[in-house]
This record gives sequence, structure tokens and C-alpha cells, in this order.
Amino acid sequence: MIVRRGRSEDLPWLIEHDDASDDWIKRCIQFEEYFVVELDGELAGFLRFSRFWGKIPYMDMIRVLPSLQRSGAGTALFRAWERAMVGEGAQHLMTSSEWAEAEPQAWHRRNGFKAAGSIDLRIFQSSPEIFFLKDISGTPEA
Ligand SMILES: CC(C)(COP(=O)(O)OP(=O)(O)OC[C@H]1O[C@@H](n2cnc3c(N)ncnc32)[C@H](O)[C@@H]1OP(=O)(O)O)[C@@H](O)C(=O)NCCC(=O)NCCS
Repeated sequence: MIVRRGRSEDLPWLIEHDDASDDWIKRCIQFEEYFVVELDGELAGFLRFSRFWGKIPYMDMIRVLPSLQRSGAGTALFRAWERAMVGEGAQHLMTSSEWAEAEPQAWHRRNGFKAAGSIDLRIFQSSPEIFFLKDISGTPEA
């Protein structure tokens, strides 16, 4: 299994598997805001992030191909991102998921995130969006 930053040659695969706009995907590759995982030489998943307030690393999306889930790829993506953010000197990580979706929430908690509040996003979705924070200030650099 190889985890690395997303590169321009990953663009067609990311356009096929991420639901952001093509322009946003290109921008995120350019700004090194993707990690991708390869299994047996084929792309199997991605993690896309941005920065809340332009500062705090915020995991916008993590996705592993359904047929390849539960083989450690998601954990490997998350850990690579976390290590990179520790290396940049970040003190906290953020993410969010929909209240009604129990599985993503369980995934975030499993990776050390704690719920920090929710906002009503009924204009987009039926249940609130829960925000999660992880304190990485004590995490040693790899
Ligand atoms: C969430 C996701 C990225 C996890 O990736 P993955 O490669 O399947 O996860 P891993 O194989 O690394 O799983 C590691 C552990 O987490 C558990 N796990 C995996 N997916 C989980 C989920 N959705 N909920 C709770 N636990 C989960 C596994 O059972 C495993 O635990 P174990 O080591 O005790 O057996 C993947 O299931 C996915 O793409 N889901 C659809 C998109 C999504 O919901 N993304 C998250 C919100 S943005």
C-alpha cells in the first residue's frame, strides 16, 4: 500500500471519484490538498482537505472504493495526513459529518476526533452537521 500526495496524473481518477467540481479538484492538486492511496498499483481512495479560517487543517472528504474498504486504506490515508499536519506545526485537526450518518461519525471518533457542536444545515441536508476536533499538539513528529 502506498500513500502519497495527489498529483496531476491522478486528475481523471479524482474527477471520476470525488464529487467536487473539476476546477476545485485541479486547485486542490495544485495546492497539495489531496492524499491518495494506491493498492497493487491502482488508486483505491483519497483524502481531500482545506483549512478552516485559512489555518486549521480540515478534512473535507475521505473516501475508499467500496470494494476495497476495511483493508486499512482509510486509516493509512488519515495517518499520512495527520503526520503531515503535525510536521507543519498544526495543533488541531477538524472535520465534520452529518448527524444522521452514524458510520462516518464512528470513523471520526475512532481516529481521535471529539464532537464540538453542530449547525443546522437544513437548506442542504435533513439533519445537522456535527463538527469534530482533534488535539494533535502533543503528537510527536514521525
Ligand atoms: C470511512 C472510510 C474512509 C474508512 O476507510 P476504510 O479503508 O474502509 O477503513 P479501514 O480499513 O482503515 O478501517 C479501519 C478500522 O475502522 C473500521 N471502520 C471502517 N469503516 C468504518 C466506518 N464507516 N464506521 C466505523 N468504523 C469503520 C474498520 O472496521 C476498522 O476497524 P478494525 O481495525 O477494528 O477492524 C470508508 O469506509 C469510506 O470511504 N466510506 C464512505 C465515505 C465516508 O463515509 N467517508 C467519511 C466521511 S467524509
